[in-house]
Amino acid sequence: MTQTLNSTESLFYDRNDWKKGYLSQPNEYDYWIDDIEGEIPPELEGTLYRNGPGLLEINGQAIRHPFDGDGMISAIRFTQGRAHYCNRFVRTQGYVEEQKAGKILYRGVFGTQKPGGWLANFLDLRIKNIANTQVIYWAGKLLALWEAAQPYRLDPDTLETIGIDDLDGILQPGDPFAAHVRIDPNCGDQPCLVNFSIKPMLSTTITIYEISTAGTLLKKHAHSVPGFAFIHDFAITPNYCIFFQNPVKFNPIPYVLGLSGAGESINFESGKPTKIIVIPRDSDVKKGGVKVFETPSGFVFHHGNSYEEDNQIIVDSICYESLPQVRPNEDYRETDFTLLDPGQLWRFSLNLTSGTVERKRLESRCCEFPTLHPNFVGRPYRYLYLGAAHSPQGNAPLQAILKVDLNSNQRQLWSAAPKGFVSEPVFVPRPNAMAEDDGWLLTVVYDAQYHRSDIVILDGRDLTQGALARLHLKHHIPYGLHGSFVKA
Ligand SMILES: [Fe+2]
Repeated sequence: MTQTLNSTESLFYDRNDWKKGYLSQPNEYDYWIDDIEGEIPPELEGTLYRNGPGLLEINGQAIRHPFDGDGMISAIRFTQGRAHYCNRFVRTQGYVEEQKAGKILYRGVFGTQKPGGWLANFLDLRIKNIANTQVIYWAGKLLALWEAAQPYRLDPDTLETIGIDDLDGILQPGDPFAAHVRIDPNCGDQPCLVNFSIKPMLSTTITIYEISTAGTLLKKHAHSVPGFAFIHDFAITPNYCIFFQNPVKFNPIPYVLGLSGAGESINFESGKPTKIIVIPRDSDVKKGGVKVFETPSGFVFHHGNSYEEDNQIIVDSICYESLPQVRPNEDYRETDFTLLDPGQLWRFSLNLTSGTVERKRLESRCCEFPTLHPNFVGRPYRYLYLGAAHSPQGNAPLQAILKVDLNSNQRQLWSAAPKGFVSEPVFVPRPNAMAEDDGWLLTVVYDAQYHRSDIVILDGRDLTQGALARLHLKHHIPYGLHGSFVKA
């Protein structure tokens, strides 16, 4: 345990340690990992792909928020008890142009401005596709996703950028494609990919896509909902897509005038309800119709899982009391965690008969990035895994992996504190396993002591036994966003 800059903060971390995880990683590597504590399970065969901002500045000009950073893909390939690391930046049009120019040429959605003050940013509403949020492998394509634009396709072996991808004509020019795809493990006799796009204006259009394993469009339907919506993630069940429309207001004027970013122009409206929009996956909405529920205000980025039970839809989500926001003139690296609301795990039970919502806090420890066994997406399930704070109270950086047993209400925690800071865990089922928690959790941990990142493998059945293996990289990976595992 170490001292902190701010005496009111938890003593489980040093903010200067945490900050170093937001240093850029401009280098691209390709090597076998040979510095390993423990043993890589020999049955673990496949590739963990991770996405996240690799650059937090452009030629020395800091970006305003990590969400504006250029996407960098890491691939950790596991084979025969060994592991190989490779990373590449997504060569988006904006990345290539800015690297060539050696300066920021585009405004970022979360507040990055071009140098030169407001006049240099006045009326510049172009969007830079930074492809930095998620990376998936579907229908033979590796795709880097960013919710406000089309995916970028990469070579799954070399991570070289192939180019922007319209999913073989499924997306039209200008169509966005959200970064939070859900893979339904059983759409008939095959899995299918379910995703959405958001076009927020005075009213918001939500378009739902369902895509087969062969990459063909199974369903597409669009719905208009009143008001501006900032929706990052959604949840699915076999019959429904569920969206949380958080109570926010968008004031475009400072953004249009070049005074602030679009994301900074979104304000939380505390006291107004969160709307929960339930859209039947069957495009013939006459069969059920769109239902809108209301629950007290809160802000949700990520959902854990959802399922149907009798006449209810259960949704487990990470909920904040209000939108955690970086204000203009604030530096995200100086975040005082104690001044922000923690994300906490809540269960929302939507009664389809009465139209009412019951909500219950399942876990008060600060947590984010929920994940589960992929076969239980949209189905009743028992185990949820999350990134979590080391301390059970208050708001703090994620330093631990938490296992929540939703049946017994028991918890297990593996912590990397005080020097380690975790990323989203990814659950990989053990081949031929029967139990829901029989698999591995893979997470990237930034180790501030050595300014490097580790790939940590945990046993999903028992986090308390410690890591099965810690693979020390030769360098750090800046804090990432999301990732996925592709079986060999
Ligand atoms: Fe996300």
